[in-house]
Amino acid sequence: MTIAQNKALQELWSEYGLEFGLQVIDLEQVFGIPIDGMPAARPAYVLEIGFGMGDSLFESMREFPDTRFLGIEVHGPGVGHLMKLAASKRLPNLRVYRHDVIEVLKYCIADNCLDVVQIFFPDPWPKKKHHKRRLINSDFIRLVSNKLKARGILHLATDWPSYAQQMRELVTSSNLYDVLEEGRARPQTKYERRAINLGHSIVDLVYKKAPS
Ligand SMILES: C[S@@+](CC[C@H](N)C(=O)[O-])C[C@H]1O[C@@H](n2cnc3c(N)ncnc32)[C@H](O)[C@@H]1O
Repeated sequence: MTIAQNKALQELWSEYGLEFGLQVIDLEQVFGIPIDGMPAARPAYVLEIGFGMGDSLFESMREFPDTRFLGIEVHGPGVGHLMKLAASKRLPNLRVYRHDVIEVLKYCIADNCLDVVQIFFPDPWPKKKHHKRRLINSDFIRLVSNKLKARGILHLATDWPSYAQQMRELVTSSNLYDVLEEGRARPQTKYERRAINLGHSIVDLVYKKAPS
């Protein structure tokens, strides 16, 4: 962790950080921005899981200042870096958990409250014997669906063909989502730049929560 990232963690946590606890949070209250007056076409609450250093999330926060972005990441330097970026532009539309996503989703996030859940380049765990460590599995797909609003969006991206295939199969067999044919734009991420330099192809998978 750099000195600046550590300083950001110390000094900016009270502004942007959310402590993990066994209670469901009120999103409107934690962001402190009333939802009234928000353009209806824009997503109100976007959750990004595993944002890494957070540069692409920061780009989205600047582009969509009305949208509230919730980030979940276990990597301390990345959390510090993103808070530093947000503070440099005095952006109010960010809150972060530095904690395991499964626990945060299970215990802190209410059902049917998120407009978008995005997971860009989850750790691919390429060796077959490690596939069971992959974040995206059938329980996770169901957990995320519970947290999305009706017709909320799930956006996944990976550079690993076998993971893309696994994601497709899991989402299809869950019967919880429909494919969003028109796709969805997003900024390039740090991991993605490296993957492209290595000659990897990028797969984006975008779904809408199916009506129940
Ligand atoms: C391959 S990196 C991709 C980072 C970023 N999305 C990008 O594209 O540059 C995956 C990220 O997921 C985070 N991560 C992995 N498991 C996690 C978990 N259970 N909860 C929260 N974050 C997690 C890692 O710390 C890492 O930063």
